[in-house]
This record gives sequence, structure tokens and C-alpha cells, in this order.
Amino acid sequence: MTETIHYSAPGRVNLIGDHTDYTGGLVMPMTLDARTTVTGQANASRVWNLVSHDEPDSLSIDLPIKDPSSMQPRWGRYVAGVLFELKQLGINVPGFTGEISTTIPIGSGLSSSAALEIAIARTALSIAKVVLPDVDIALLCQRAEHIASGVPCGIMDQFCIAAGQPNTATLIDCHTLDIQHIAMPSEIEVVSRFISHRTLAGSEYSDRVTDCRHIEEKIGPLRLANLGDAKKLSDQRLFRRARHVISENHRVRNFASALADKDFRTAGELMLASHESLANDYETSNSAMDQAVKTMMSEPGFLGARITGGGFGGCIVGIRHSSSSTIK
Ligand code: GLA
Repeated sequence: MTETIHYSAPGRVNLIGDHTDYTGGLVMPMTLDARTTVTGQANASRVWNLVSHDEPDSLSIDLPIKDPSSMQPRWGRYVAGVLFELKQLGINVPGFTGEISTTIPIGSGLSSSAALEIAIARTALSIAKVVLPDVDIALLCQRAEHIASGVPCGIMDQFCIAAGQPNTATLIDCHTLDIQHIAMPSEIEVVSRFISHRTLAGSEYSDRVTDCRHIEEKIGPLRLANLGDAKKLSDQRLFRRARHVISENHRVRNFASALADKDFRTAGELMLASHESLANDYETSNSAMDQAVKTMMSEPGFLGARITGGGFGGCIVGIRHSSSSTIK
């Protein structure tokens, strides 16, 4: 009898360090309790048949895949992108029949697509009997995301989901791909709050990536730049984008130190400063997200709050005194 296998991968929320990963900066996300699960069995064919409990239309993929970006239904592009990238690495995956379910709210900025990619990659690697390090799984899933969504995302979501540990923040240097696991102090509760649906495909996300490329053509790598370098930019929009990235990298470092020192007031202030920078300099917030941060901060016990992830909607994240991580 063929063995039934289950692989699951969590969503993520980013505590601090947004729009820094695609210039090799610092980020500090953590995994959520909500997960995407793939269950099924390998088969002797060269076909992947999947049904989703959360998306319409079943998926049937003939291997090898020629064009994952045109797969229908659309959610199948994430699956096809992963199988395509595995093939590019010379990994031959057998057929599979299974189902997918998720408790991560889709389209809410909590990385449901990256969780799907990682769960599919782990399933496919298991039936192909191949072991890859987490960082390689993350990189192949990042390429799959580029193919599937057309969004030139960084490595944060896939790497946090592949390598993160429960109740632990993951400090990632997106240039060296070094990670540090930082246990969340028990005095602090992380609260993620859904505000509005969004998709990064077709958003201004890729415009921000392009702005950063233009900045780096003029002043060199943003991860090494300081405010003096940014001031050399005559274009005021590019100056503000650079100021966000440079200051956000500092905030991530200071946030990690503040948590280590149990200086939660400073950690909260850094989150608020991050939100201001994303709203004013990077322009990835909107009035509903700004208002949601203000509302959260008016509630008892909150020390800091900010928009989290790609922006243009999605979720906010805050910290308050307490002991566990929740989605509310
Ligand atoms: C999205 C992308 C990430 C990252 C964030 C912003 O979540 O997938 O790579 O760029 O936006 O920090």
C-alpha cells in the first residue's frame, strides 16, 4: 500500500524590516500557528492531481511542466512553479494525488502563497527522496513565486517559513542568508490583525523594487549605504525610498537588541517608526492601515504597531504585554 504523507507549512507575520529583503537588508519575521497542509500519495503516473479545500477547481499537472505561469486554475501556478524549479535543479518528482487545506487567510498578507510553495516543495522532495537544506528550498520557492505571481519578491517569506521555529522570530540577513532564531520574550504577545484583502500582483510593489534598482545604480548597494549617500540622490522620491531602506535596516538591528534587553518600550517605538517610514517615505500604507495602527495603539497594553509585509492593504502587527501569538 502506498504511504499517505502530510506536509504543512506556516504563514508568517513580519515584526519589523519591510521592503529591505530585495536589497539584501535585514528582516525579522516569525511564523504563525496558521498553516497550509498537503496530504496525499505518490502515484506511478507523471501527473499531479490536487484538490483544494479553499480554492475552486481542481488541478491536474502533467510533468514535466513547460509553462508554469499559464497554469489554470491560477492557484495551481504556485504548485507548478515549485515543480518546474525542482526540475530545473535536476530533481525528478513522481506523480502525486492529494489535497490541500489551509488555515492561513488567503490574500491577507500573511504569506499563504509562500506557505503553499514550501508545503508543496517538501511533499515533492519527500516523494522524490531528495533532501535539500532549508535555504535551498526557500530560494527555489522564491523563484516559483516570481513565476507564479510575476511579483519580484525578496526571500523573507519563503526563508522564514522554511526555517522558522514556533514562537521564535527569525532575524534574516537577506544578503548573506544567515539566520538567527530569537525566542520571543514571554512578556510580549504578538497580535496580527487583518484589515483588507490585497494582492501584490499588479500593485506598486514592483515599482518599489525598480526604484531601489535605480538608487543602487547611483549610490551602490543600499544595504551598505548611509544617509549621507542617500542625500546624493537629487530625485526626492528616490531619496525618500532610500531613507526608508537605510533607516529600516537600523531599526531591525535595534529591535533585536531591544528584545534581548527586554526593553519593550523601545521595541514598540521602533515598530511605530517603521510604520511612519513605510507610510511617508516608502508609500506602501493607506489611510485604512494608518487608522488601524492608531486604533490598535489606543487599546490597552499595546507598545507598538505597524503595517506588515508588502503593504497596500493586508494586516497590521502589534506587540503588547502578555504571553502568546494570536491572529485576531
Ligand atoms: C512581500 C514579499 C517579501 C517582502 C515584503 C516586504 O511579503 O514577498 O519578499 O519584500 O513583501 O517586506
